[in-house]
Amino acid sequence: MKRGLSFLLLLSLSLFVFEAITLSNASLNIDGLPPRGGVGLIPNFYRRFTRCPQAETLVNTIVRIKVQNDSTVPAKLLRLHYHDCFVRGCEASILLDTTNTTNPAEKAAFPNLTLGGFDVIDDIKEEVEKECQGIVSCADILALAARDAVSIPFGTPLWEVPTGRRDGNISLASDVTGNLPSPFSDYSTLQQLFDKKNLTVDDLVALSGAHTIGVAHCGAFSKRLYNFTGKGDMDPSLNATYAETLKKECPNPANPATVVVMDPARVTAFDTSYFSILEQHRGLFQSDAALLTNTNSAAAVNRMKFGNNFLSQFRTSMQKMGAIEVLTRTDGEIRTNCHVVNPPKN
Ligand code: HEM
Ligand SMILES: *[C@@H]1O[C@H](CO)[C@@H](O)[C@H](O)[C@H]1NC(C)=O
Ligand SMILES: *[C@@H]1O[C@H](CO)[C@@H](O)[C@H](O)[C@H]1NC(C)=O
Ligand SMILES: *[C@@H]1O[C@H](CO)[C@@H](O)[C@H](O)[C@H]1NC(C)=O
Ligand SMILES: *[C@@H]1O[C@H](CO)[C@@H](O)[C@H](O)[C@H]1NC(C)=O
Ligand SMILES: *[C@@H]1O[C@H](CO)[C@@H](O)[C@H](O)[C@H]1NC(C)=O
Ligand SMILES: *[C@@H]1O[C@H](CO)[C@@H](O)[C@H](O)[C@H]1NC(C)=O
Ligand SMILES: *[C@@H]1O[C@H](CO)[C@@H](O)[C@H](O)[C@H]1NC(C)=O
Repeated sequence: MKRGLSFLLLLSLSLFVFEAITLSNASLNIDGLPPRGGVGLIPNFYRRFTRCPQAETLVNTIVRIKVQNDSTVPAKLLRLHYHDCFVRGCEASILLDTTNTTNPAEKAAFPNLTLGGFDVIDDIKEEVEKECQGIVSCADILALAARDAVSIPFGTPLWEVPTGRRDGNISLASDVTGNLPSPFSDYSTLQQLFDKKNLTVDDLVALSGAHTIGVAHCGAFSKRLYNFTGKGDMDPSLNATYAETLKKECPNPANPATVVVMDPARVTAFDTSYFSILEQHRGLFQSDAALLTNTNSAAAVNRMKFGNNFLSQFRTSMQKMGAIEVLTRTDGEIRTNCHVVNPPKN
């Protein structure tokens, strides 16, 4: 008992000394810690507190190259960041591979089948490690890359990404259910799952607006076209004209590989057309349509169509989402390879 206590004391003392040294060296650009005081993430963390001031510029440069090569990259990275944050917080657990097949990793859970962009994160990480070994977390790379990819057409970052996230060492497929909403979720489920992350109805509606870009596999919505209640019927809340178009794209039974664009009005534009489509009952998923079934969320959907309302709420909501249960300071680690946790130190 006594021994345990003095060990803890020694540990916290040595942590304190470590911190004092790194802090006093902060101005000398030595890798260190931001000051204490309840702050988690900090704007320009790598420039202000590490030997890697070029980290964010480097990420940005590679993201541009990747998006130029493949226009599906922004949607993939944005969704990957969202899946990361909603399960165990934004700590790159979504990037970890399964190491124990009886206990598979997050990315092996059902909704993963359709995630992409892992290769883009790998390439960025590799370049960043070349210049700044062991300094920049996979979680920050993902948060920055998602923002940068979506922002390219705007010529300016659409939302701020304070940095200093560190990487977790646990990833469990079993954490996905109960944290990540499904495309079949109704309003009250969506609201509860967002509330669990301290996200409001306005956050839910604005963040769902991410469905203004990207694609979905037929399996995520074909039930609405063919067998909504198990009686060979259609979802009455789906626009009948649009349903006919969708049926041509997704014959029954759906080829699991077939994808459709989520916002046919303006496929690649990150804009408010998702909300206009939604009001025409052309939201693709039940979870999209569900936003019209509650007075508050329906009002928010309507509001988002006007002026800058969507982009300004999206900016706020992405910052909140990007801060969910982050690991900072001495928590977690800086993974060397985003696919695996670091080997134990001796
Ligand atoms: C509200 C709950 C949400 C549900 C139920 C949901 C569900 C889905 C589903 C089922 C897909 C299609 C996957 C496929 O079949 O390929 C999808 C795609 C996508 N989601 Fe969500 N999502 C939600 C919220 C979000 C949020 C908060 C974001 C980001 C801020 C987001 C970003 C995306 C993007 C960008 C895509 C397109 C991915 C691609 O083209 O590769 N979603 N979502
Ligand atoms: C370009 O995109 C394709 C997929 O569309 C991918 O296979 C290829 O690796 C990418 N090239 C680079 C240099 O990232
Ligand atoms: C793999 O996961 C199972 C189930 O959680 C557990 O019982 C087992 O000990 C794990 N094996 C290893 C090598 O960690
Ligand atoms: C997703 O999970 C399936 C099994 O459910 C697995 O076959 C597939 O490789 C996983 N995809 C990724 C990207 O890990
Ligand atoms: C939500 O806020 C409460 C109160 O501030 C906090 O204890 C909890 O950890 C937060 N949850 C998440 C997921 O951030
Ligand atoms: C419709 O759903 C019911 C109940 O789940 C199922 O028994 C039936 O086979 C389905 N029919 C079609 C055509 O998919
Ligand atoms: C169905 O979509 C069309 C546009 O494709 C729109 O004109 C019509 O108003 C929509 N119907 C309903 C009931 O929302
Ligand atoms: C994971 O991280 C926790 C907390 O930082 C630590 O206690 C634990 O030993 C780590 N586990 C592994 C397998 O690295």
